[in-house]
Amino acid sequence: MYIRKEDINRDLLLGALDEMKFWGRIVFEHLKFHRQAVDPGNERAFRAIDRYEAQVEKFYNAYIFPVPKSTPNQTLFYLTEQTLNVVIPARNFKSFLNKEIAACRLLSLIDPDLAEHLIRETDYFIGQVRYSRGEPTPTRAVLGMPDGARRALTVPRRILPRLNSNMLFTSTVENIMFFSRIHGEHARHVTLVTRPKLQEDIRLQAEEFEKLMFDNIEKAEKVEDTGTGFDELVDDSLNLAIQFRDFSFTVNIALHECAVPTGRVNAWPLLADHIAREAQYFVDVMNRISGKSPTPPPDTPYYPYII
Ligand SMILES: [Fe+2]
Ligand SMILES: [Fe+2]
Repeated sequence: MYIRKEDINRDLLLGALDEMKFWGRIVFEHLKFHRQAVDPGNERAFRAIDRYEAQVEKFYNAYIFPVPKSTPNQTLFYLTEQTLNVVIPARNFKSFLNKEIAACRLLSLIDPDLAEHLIRETDYFIGQVRYSRGEPTPTRAVLGMPDGARRALTVPRRILPRLNSNMLFTSTVENIMFFSRIHGEHARHVTLVTRPKLQEDIRLQAEEFEKLMFDNIEKAEKVEDTGTGFDELVDDSLNLAIQFRDFSFTVNIALHECAVPTGRVNAWPLLADHIAREAQYFVDVMNRISGKSPTPPPDTPYYPYII
């Protein structure tokens, strides 16, 4: 497909590239989690998910990870199309797995709530790539946000500081609603996989974060409805994001060093790393919105790889 050079906004394409580098990896890691979670008696499901995972990871390693920022617009635009051609079927495969899990045809350690969370993140990413291409974005309902009939903006992070004030307002409340839910669910997952009493310290902190994140969704809804309290919401959300990010990194490092009581929790270290990276992503979004200088993470994730 030929697109005239002057019709392509370079910032949008670079914005899409940032997101493809971040979320592309997230998308295939979700398939790794599904692969490791199926009942070991179900060899067929393990192999089917494994084949799919390998395909997406291979695409990422060959076509997304090595792409430099100097890549011409035409190539980047074509890459967004190729990415959607890989990510949308992966999203549909996750949706298929979720239906099978919910119907009890696939026995997995991943429950339907977590399976649905993985789909929402993929839909968010698809929305960002579509936004960069001038295509329709998902509705808020698809992304698990209040006021569901409206289309969500799903603006790539790089574009946030360039939005006009109305769009920045909407995009900010949407980011806060979407990511507060995502991280509230991460915190809930940590409460599920840690042992009462023995790992009480981690479990109680996670429980507190779960509550704070879900309360923050309500605060964002109120700001959107009344048009007041925007600056306070941005400040509070940035602080909450930083606190949860630091907690996530601490848990991640402790898991990799077997430093939690009993040495391990009932979840994979890669999941802790994945959650820590997503937490850093939320901090990055809030930094770009507030114009504050980037807050570096307390340490690098265990699996460095990208961004
Ligand atoms: Fe994820
Ligand atoms: Fe997540």
